[in-house]
Amino acid sequence: MTVLIAGCGDLGTEVGLRLAARGERVVGWRRSPGRLPAGIEGVAADLTRPLPPVPEDTDVVVVATAAGERTEAAYRSAYVDATGNVLDALERDGVSPRRILFVSSTAVYGDFDGALVTEESPAESTAPTARLVREAEQVLLGRSDHGTVLRLSGIYGPGRTRLIDQVTSGEAVLPAEPQWTNRIHRDDAAAAIVHLVTAVAHPAPVYLGSDELPVDLGEVLQFLAAELGLPEPPRGEVSPTRGGARRVDSGLLRSTGFSFTYPTYREGYRAVLAGKGVRHP
Ligand SMILES: NC(=O)c1ccc[n+]([C@@H]2O[C@H](COP(=O)([O-])OP(=O)(O)OC[C@H]3O[C@@H](n4cnc5c(N)ncnc54)[C@H](OP(=O)(O)O)[C@@H]3O)[C@@H](O)[C@H]2O)c1
Repeated sequence: MTVLIAGCGDLGTEVGLRLAARGERVVGWRRSPGRLPAGIEGVAADLTRPLPPVPEDTDVVVVATAAGERTEAAYRSAYVDATGNVLDALERDGVSPRRILFVSSTAVYGDFDGALVTEESPAESTAPTARLVREAEQVLLGRSDHGTVLRLSGIYGPGRTRLIDQVTSGEAVLPAEPQWTNRIHRDDAAAAIVHLVTAVAHPAPVYLGSDELPVDLGEVLQFLAAELGLPEPPRGEVSPTRGGARRVDSGLLRSTGFSFTYPTYREGYRAVLAGKGVRHP
């Protein structure tokens, strides 16, 4: 059986390596397949253009592209068009995978004024880019009975060190008012995808992927400063979290038997600070 990863970057590669380690054949589609590590068969493919043949024994497809820039055109092409194109290629080649998982984002939710958000909450962000991600979800769920959407919150991990860099450079500011943030370590995001495509017989259409502790941004920055032995950042005015305040509840994912290696930012950032893992190019 083959697993096809369409848009095989940092997250897709981590998923692919984990599945390859379990003995699966993994094919990675991206425009620069030469960057993929041994264990993943790289195939040059631009998801916005006619696609190469789909391996006929493809059992699982993971769509994990990312837009190169924050414009509507880039989002439409990387999410809506790419997802439709992958489905077209499956139909063209008469391949019916058991599972097609689209990596989405909790950005599809708008502002919840700090309230808990679940899979049942209305995904009605008015941000144009978020609406396009939602549209791509609907393309998958509308066209396939085998589709699953995993909405991830902010990914951090090896080489994804924006907050650490802010603290070390002295640019970090503790928000004057509490500011909810939600995150997931790259390795937990990859593990959740592997779990959903291998261990859950009848997945729900949508899952939220975020660690167990929505947390105030200031608390994370204070923790990082303490771990790094640096002075606490100053308090000040910080622009509100892009997309609005909410607390993401990943209880449905956990109810399928998934458990987090990094249930909170503390374990996750300690691993990052200890230099554990690499960001895949
Ligand atoms: N960053 C976050 O905090 C966050 C939060 C929630 C969800 N997500 C989602 O997580 C997913 C994976 O993110 P990531 O960190 O793994 O991103 P990444 O490292 O940038 O990987 C995305 C990959 O997609 C490939 N790609 C982009 N456009 C393509 C195209 N037209 N045709 C073929 N391949 C294409 C790129 O490879 P080539 O350039 O070689 O084509 C790249 O390797 C994305 O779906 C993103 O929306 C991210």
